[in-house]
Amino acid sequence: MFIKNISIKNFRNIKEINLDLNNNYNFFYGLNGQGKTSILESIYILSLIKSFRSNSDRLLINHNNDNYELIGLLSSDKNHVFQVRIYFSTSDGKNIFLNSERINKISNFIGEIPSIFLSLDSLSVINGDPSFRRKFLDILLCQTSPLYLKSLQLYKSALNQRNQLLNNIYARLDDRRSLLSWDEQIAKYGAEILLFRTRVVEYLSHKTNNFYKKLSKKNDEIEIQYNSNIEIENGLNSGSVKDYYLNKLIQNYDTDIERKFTKFGPHRDDLIILKNGYSFKDFASTGENKTLVLSLKFSEAEYLYANKKEKPLLLMDDIFGELDEVRTDSLLSLTIFWLKTGPSFHENIIYIHQRFPSQDH
Ligand SMILES: Nc1ncnc2c1ncn2[C@@H]1O[C@H](COP(=O)(O)OP(=O)(O)O)[C@@H](O)[C@H]1O
Ligand SMILES: [Mg+2]
Repeated sequence: MFIKNISIKNFRNIKEINLDLNNNYNFFYGLNGQGKTSILESIYILSLIKSFRSNSDRLLINHNNDNYELIGLLSSDKNHVFQVRIYFSTSDGKNIFLNSERINKISNFIGEIPSIFLSLDSLSVINGDPSFRRKFLDILLCQTSPLYLKSLQLYKSALNQRNQLLNNIYARLDDRRSLLSWDEQIAKYGAEILLFRTRVVEYLSHKTNNFYKKLSKKNDEIEIQYNSNIEIENGLNSGSVKDYYLNKLIQNYDTDIERKFTKFGPHRDDLIILKNGYSFKDFASTGENKTLVLSLKFSEAEYLYANKKEKPLLLMDDIFGELDEVRTDSLLSLTIFWLKTGPSFHENIIYIHQRFPSQDH
C-alpha cells in the first residue's frame, strides 16, 4: 500500500496543503514546529481514525476554524486505487468516507490502510506501564482482525457495566446475582482476546529476536511472553479458556466487590520481555532499548504484511537521529540501513527527520 496523494485542510498548523507522495521513501525535514509530525499524524488518522497524540479531535482543528478535513488517495500493492476522506466538525463529529461512501462502523474500516507508527514515544512499549503494551497489541490486532476489534469493544463495554455494578453492590443498591450475565460476556470476549494476543505474541517474540540479532550484531536472545492472570495452557480452545475465566470471576466476587473493580482479565495483562532470560527493561542500556523497539516495530510490520497481504505504511517520526548504533549521516546510508535490517519489504516509508540527514554530523 502507498499514499499517492494527501490533502490536508485546517489541521494543526496546516491551513491547506496538497502533497503527491512517492511509492517508496518519503523524507520530510525542516525546523521545529513546521508541521512535519502533523503531516504524519494526518496519515495515521486516515489509517486508524484516532490521533497518536491527542484524544480530542477538537484540539486537532486549526485555531479559529470549526472543522478539519483529510483526504488520502491510496494505492494497494496490486494498484487498486481508492480514496479515504475524514471530515471532522465541532457540530457534526467525525465522518469517514471510503470512495465517497460513508462508513458507519469503524470495524468496517480499520485495516483498510495497514500502518505502523514509530517515534521516540514508542519506547513506552518497553519502559512504560502495562497499558502501553496492551495498546500496542490491540492496535496491531484490530488492524488484522475485525473479530478482535469487535470482541475488544464488547469486552470493554461489559467490563465497564460490571464495574459499575460492583460499585452498586458495594453500596447495597444491587444484588450480586446480577453479576452473572456480565461475567458470561466478559469471559466469552475476554477468552477471544486472550487467545488472539497469545498467538500474536508468539509470532512477535520469534521475529523480534531475529531482528534484534541483526540490528545489534550480537547473539543475545530476546524472548517476549504474554503474561496473563488467566492461565492459558497450550492447546486450550476459547471454550475452555472461557469456562476457566468465568469460574475465576465467580470465585472472586468478594474481593471484586470490596475493591469495586474486576481483578482478573486481559485488561490487566502485560508482556514480559527478556534478554538472555533477564527482564529487558531492568537491565538494558538506552541503545538496547532503542534497538529493541525498532525490532518490535519491524516485527509488527511483518505481521501486518503476512496477515493483510499488503505492505503497511511505515510512519517514522524522527527516530534515526537518536539511534546510537546506526550512523545516519546520509540519505543513502539510511536507505541501506533499511534494506539490510528492515522488514522483508522496503517500500512505503514516510520518514520525518528534524534536519536533512546529511547535516547531521
Ligand atoms: N490546533 C492547532 N492549531 C494551530 N496550530 C497548532 C495546533 N496544534 C498544534 N499546533 C502547532 O503546530 C505546530 C506544528 O507542530 P508539529 O507538527 O509537531 O511540528 P514539527 O513536527 O515540524 O516539529 C506547533 O508549533 C504547534 O504549536
Ligand atoms: Mg515533530
